Amino acid sequence: MIIIRHPTEMTAWAKEQAGRGIALVPTMGFFHEGHLSLMRRAGQLADQVAVSLFVNPTQFGPQEDLAAYPRNFESDQAMAEAAGVAVLFAPDAADMYPAVFSTTVTVGKELTGKLCGASRPGHFAGVATVVCKLFSIVRPDLAVFGEKDWQQLAVIRRMTVDLNLGVEIVSHPIVREADGLAMSSRNTYLAPQQREAALSLSRALALARTLAAKGERSAERLTAALRDFIHSFQETAVDYISFVHQDSLQHVTEIDETTILALAVKIGGKVRLIDNGRVM
Ligand code: PAF
Repeated sequence: MIIIRHPTEMTAWAKEQAGRGIALVPTMGFFHEGHLSLMRRAGQLADQVAVSLFVNPTQFGPQEDLAAYPRNFESDQAMAEAAGVAVLFAPDAADMYPAVFSTTVTVGKELTGKLCGASRPGHFAGVATVVCKLFSIVRPDLAVFGEKDWQQLAVIRRMTVDLNLGVEIVSHPIVREADGLAMSSRNTYLAPQQREAALSLSRALALARTLAAKGERSAERLTAALRDFIHSFQETAVDYISFVHQDSLQHVTEIDETTILALAVKIGGKVRLIDNGRVM
């Protein structure tokens, strides 16, 4: 595996691969099994796997965890190599965003103004801009993203089509711990006693499925039941419980097979976790 630090060198490598398919897995590092499953999937779909490792400052709000975001380059390097990655692209922020940088990619509010976008203003502009840059730099044929960030996936799909970026977007299912917690680099922020509270998300998904299986279709009634359920765990505060259409992210009043339940819950006032899934 080679490590490339500079965008220009990354593009030069991509151009040398002419004819060999490149799959990109964009990441912010601190790899866990979720990331590795994306890398392995990418390896099944293309000749060469490139992984970007960049904690993108523009997608963090001023009060968010940019400085504290977990990092471990040596461990990430070893894990990516073992997963068969050809190139690890780990640029510096100063090379991605030089002083003169002044372009932002903004996807419309109908996708970015709700769910995580409502409590994290500017977040999806940061994500869209960096992913657009990564596509330009790495020039992949396809890119693999995890379904845990369902809204991010919808935003990136929209941007890729709207801007004719010519990159196939592949989504990969959420990878969970044995107890159901969706894997996330941010799980490392959880104190041991908060682990039970963190399970409120996956258990709320399970409860929604049980209620749907019994015939409940009302998003309003389901939301009320899930809110009570999540708040029955200590130290939890619901950010949102939303039933949305899988592609448009429009809120639905009656759930069906195209509905995604999206959840965001703060644990202990600090650790914000997300999860999602179909309920029927
Ligand atoms: O999902 C992430 O880790 C990030 O949002 C991404 C897609 C790598 C962009 O920085």
